[in-house]
Order: sequence, then C-alpha cells, then structure tokens
Amino acid sequence: MTSRNPIAKADPILIVGAGVFGLSTALELKKRGFQNITVLDRYQPPVADGSSVDISRVIRVEYADELYAKMAREALQGWLTEFKSHYYSSGFVMLADKSGNRYLESSKAVNESLGGELAEYSDASEVLTKFPCIPSRLDGLSAYVNENGGWADAEKSILQLSQQCSLAGVNFITGSRGKVLSLRHSGKRVIGVNVAQGEPLLASQIIIATGAWSNRLLPMAHATTASGQPVGFIQLTPEEAEPLRKMPVIINLSTGIFCFPPTPDTNILKVARHGYGFATTVPIEDSPRFVSSPKRDGNNAAASYLPSDAEEGLRDGLRQLLPDFSNSPWMDRRLCWYSDTPEGDFVIDYHPQADGLFIATGGAGHAFKFLPVLGRYIADCFENKVSPEIRHKWRFRLPSGNEEKLKVGDGSRGGPPLRVLAGHEQAKL
Ligand SMILES: *[C@@H]1O[C@H](CO)[C@@H](O)[C@H](O)[C@H]1NC(C)=O
Ligand SMILES: *[C@@H]1O[C@H](CO)[C@@H](O)[C@H](O)[C@H]1NC(C)=O
Ligand SMILES: *[C@@H]1O[C@H](CO)[C@@H](O)[C@H](O)[C@H]1NC(C)=O
Repeated sequence: MTSRNPIAKADPILIVGAGVFGLSTALELKKRGFQNITVLDRYQPPVADGSSVDISRVIRVEYADELYAKMAREALQGWLTEFKSHYYSSGFVMLADKSGNRYLESSKAVNESLGGELAEYSDASEVLTKFPCIPSRLDGLSAYVNENGGWADAEKSILQLSQQCSLAGVNFITGSRGKVLSLRHSGKRVIGVNVAQGEPLLASQIIIATGAWSNRLLPMAHATTASGQPVGFIQLTPEEAEPLRKMPVIINLSTGIFCFPPTPDTNILKVARHGYGFATTVPIEDSPRFVSSPKRDGNNAAASYLPSDAEEGLRDGLRQLLPDFSNSPWMDRRLCWYSDTPEGDFVIDYHPQADGLFIATGGAGHAFKFLPVLGRYIADCFENKVSPEIRHKWRFRLPSGNEEKLKVGDGSRGGPPLRVLAGHEQAKL
C-alpha cells in the first residue's frame, strides 16, 4: 500500500459505478462526514443492466468462510429491518450429490462455530415434509436447509439505496457525462476521469466500483475478471404460480443451478446458474489489451439472448428442479455479469501504485446480499480502519507474472468450465 495523505472531509470524491459497491460506499462516506461525493454511471440507478439489478438475488447466511458468514448475519439484520420491504424469507435449500461437497462441509463447520440454523437431511426427500411445494424429485441427494434465508428484490433495494444517497446529498451524474471512458493521470496520481461528453471530471480521490466493467478502466485481469452467468425468466399465470408460492430458494450445488419462488405480484419464475460462466473478448482502445466485459455502449439487458449451451444448461436445470415448466417459453433471458476473483474474495483497497485511486469491486457473484452493510466495510478500508485480516483478504494484488488462468471462486460453483464466446455469439449480446 502506498503512503498517502489523509483524505479531508471536504475533498471531492468521485465514485465510478452506481451498483451495490458504489452506492453503499457513497452513503456510508456521506454519513461519515465526507461532503463532496459524486457517483457516476452510464444510467441512472437502478442501472438497467447493472449486476446489482434484477427481480431477485439470493439472501443466505451459509458460507464456507467465516468472515462472509459473519457479514451475512449482520446483513440479514438489515434485510429484516431497514430493507424489509424488499426481503422475502422463503427459506434457503442447498442440494448436493450424496458423495459429498467441499463447500457444504465447510459451511457446516462455519455454521457450528458461529451458531446457526442450518439443518441437515442426509435424504433430501425428507425436506418435502417441511416444504411440500418443492416440485422436484429429491431422492439420491442430501440437503441443507436454513429457514432464515430467502431472496430480495434487487432492483427495489438498489432504488431505495440510491434514494437514500440522494437524500443524504450525494451527487449523481449519469448519461454520457457519467459514462467514464478512462482514468486521467498526472504522474503517479489519478486525478480524475475522462467521460464521453464534456470536460474531464476531477477529484482528490477516485473510487472504482465498476464491477464487471472494471478491466476496461484498469488492467486487473489477474485479480478480477468478468464472467456472464445465464439467467432465464418464465412468466407464470396466477394459477401456475399458486402451488409454488411457499417454495424456498433452491440451489443444486452439483450443477450450480438455482431457482426462486415466483415473484408475489408478477408471477415471474427465475432460474439461473452459479457457475464458471462465459467470457467475451473486448478490445481496449489505444491498448493491445483484450478483456472480458459486458458492453459499455448500450444496455446489456436488452437483447434477451443466451448462447445455446447456456440455454440448454438452464433447461436441464428446469427439468430437474421445476419439471412442469421445463418447456415453458422464456419471457426474458440474459447473462448476469459476475466479477470473479481467485478465491471469491472482494477487491477493496487503495491501488498500491497509483495515488488517489481506490478500488471496490470483485463481488464474485455473492456480494449483493451484503447491501445493508457493505458500505461500512468499504468505508472502513477507505479510512484505514479494518483488521489486518480483512485488509489482506481484500488487498489489490499486483500481477506476479506467473498467474495461471484465474482460478475462480470459493468452491461454490457448479456446471461446465468457463467458455470464451465466439465472435458471432458476442455480437448478439
Ligand atoms: C465538489 O467537487 C467538485 C470537483 O469534483 C468541485 O468542482 C466542486 O466545486 C466541489 N463542491 C464543493 C461544494 O466544494
Ligand atoms: C448448525 O448449528 C446449530 C447450532 O450450533 C446446530 O444445532 C446444527 O446442528 C448445525 N447444523 C449442521 C448441519 O451442522
Ligand atoms: C442435482 O444435480 C445432480 C447432478 O449432480 C442431478 O443428478 C440431480 O438430478 C439434480 N437434482 C435437482 C433436483 O436439481
């Protein structure tokens, strides 16, 4: 970490990215007395194609890692209070092959050390007595159930958070003036950002909270890289939705496929895969670099396209988890963009080589649930108040030169390995 001058409360701070990392940081810094905070994004939050925005996100406290398990317990309190209008306590069920699952074994150990509510069923079929409306065949699997878990309406939670920011006095710049093209340097210092329209925006401190778009601004593919994970949506009639109302969130850790109960008012069924995903190859202007990233110009949520193997994976998952709907037409499909990291740890740190630059990204497909508390952790890193353990876990690594291909995640993923999309597939995204 570079030595640096403490940041004065009146110093202008620019936060690039209005997702859960950027907004929760903006709100927390504002609460701590920083006066001049501006959030930039291509779109107004809830950002239509942002990874923090969707009809649902899983809220669970089960983790193989004790820090995240503790944070998730703190966050759950926020979901039950401040954000309760967006939280649905449907219960959370993890399924796995009986042969065992490393992630589950560690989660069990963490549940025991922290004191949890995880229940184990060596025969998953027994779960049906608790949740009779699970429509899947569960024999041959083991199951772990926590009734204190479920899902949140991600879009509405982000809307609430952005309104809280606005009321607290955070400035927002969106549209082409908020679309950041590159960082602006002066010697070893980052002094601002170049934007798609008008003069560069300058500040004493730049916070990059750009999630899956991060490698476009800063070469950090050794530390975090974007993968698109398939998601499908099915419109149910109220009659079709009725028998599924009391369904929990279910993930089959052996395939990575997970599904949610239908949304209460709109009866939308969602199925997705928590896997290794798909990568793109985007050329970076004025550079020899190619990075995996969603597009910058245009709305990534608009196309309703999935590569055929991704779609097939979701159909297989439906056949196993929701067989009655395995042939139902998609009302929408998309890739949900993760910011993967080597061990599934976030990247929240000052850049060790560029003064004025702080990074808060690397959600690794599991950060959203921390929305009620994430800003506090990020602001603690920003103000140099975290334990050495957290500082090390979320450190910004410099390339060592001998990285293998980025090893992804914390052991919770399932399904086929990462595939780089062909040009004709990328053109359809
Ligand atoms: C806030 O910072 C911006 C630069 O990012 C500066 O132009 C503006 O004058 C500052 N506002 C206040 C009230 O200091
Ligand atoms: C989780 O922890 C609780 C409380 O310590 C314990 O009663 C329960 O058996 C644990 N669950 C599993 C699956 O180990
Ligand atoms: C879970 O995944 C396994 C593959 O390992 C599969 O055999 C089983 O049918 C799946 N079950 C459900 C309910 O998804």
